[in-house]
Amino acid sequence: MSKIGKPRLSWGNDGTLRSEQFDDVYYSVEGGVKETTYVFLTGNDLPQRFEGCEEFTIAETGFGTGLNFLVTWRAWLEAKKQKAVNQNAVLKFISFEMYPLSATEIMRAAEMFGELRTLGEQLAKNYPNDLEAGKHLIQADSDIQLLLICGDINETIDDMNFKADAWYLDGFSPSKNEGMWSEHVFEKIGQLTAKGGTIATFTAAGFVRRGLMNHGYTMSKVKGFGRKREMLIGAYETA
Ligand SMILES: C[S@@+](CC[C@H](N)C(=O)[O-])C[C@H]1O[C@@H](n2cnc3c(N)ncnc32)[C@H](O)[C@@H]1O
Repeated sequence: MSKIGKPRLSWGNDGTLRSEQFDDVYYSVEGGVKETTYVFLTGNDLPQRFEGCEEFTIAETGFGTGLNFLVTWRAWLEAKKQKAVNQNAVLKFISFEMYPLSATEIMRAAEMFGELRTLGEQLAKNYPNDLEAGKHLIQADSDIQLLLICGDINETIDDMNFKADAWYLDGFSPSKNEGMWSEHVFEKIGQLTAKGGTIATFTAAGFVRRGLMNHGYTMSKVKGFGRKREMLIGAYETA
């Protein structure tokens, strides 16, 4: 079974969280919630695509603090409230993580997310205490399932067989965490995407764009978040 490790975290007074292993931040210092909304939700045309669905599957590389999950959860709740989504519809969120935070760390991070704090507390309450390598199904809410897959994505992705409607690629920067942005992962992402599926990532790295293009995606560069010039979005083209 794939191994997991403990994350080495450095908590900033300004609400940021850094990984000492990867020398990179978990989310933008310019505003994590806004960044997630811009890069991953808008980049995948969400929440509009929730409309009328019975089930929607999102897959993510790098669960980290769960911020992307919390922002998506809130958008889903809002779509239900506005009756844009069938009341019985289910959101499945599948996330890969090799250095899982503990429930206490998830809670501490959520305290920095302002309006998402309540959802963060609910997540922390349902989050296993001593996470081991392997799959963990967390019922975050009656209609929200979080499947956390702990281990190196290069190995754990091999026994997955879902079809994602949307992908969030959120490893640390490719220059600091090259192993997570591998040709093998790109190939599997292509195989694990549903017809009409989409992808979004904060990076504009050429090898990421080409890697996804080689596995069925049409990729475009769009304006990045905040001071970032560009990022990538893509649509899965089936023959
Ligand atoms: C930028 S952070 C993710 C931020 C996260 N989406 C959030 O909302 O907080 C990148 C994550 O990728 C994880 N990671 C790095 N290498 C990995 C690997 N080979 N397999 C799985 N996860 C990995 C890190 O531990 C880290 O949590």
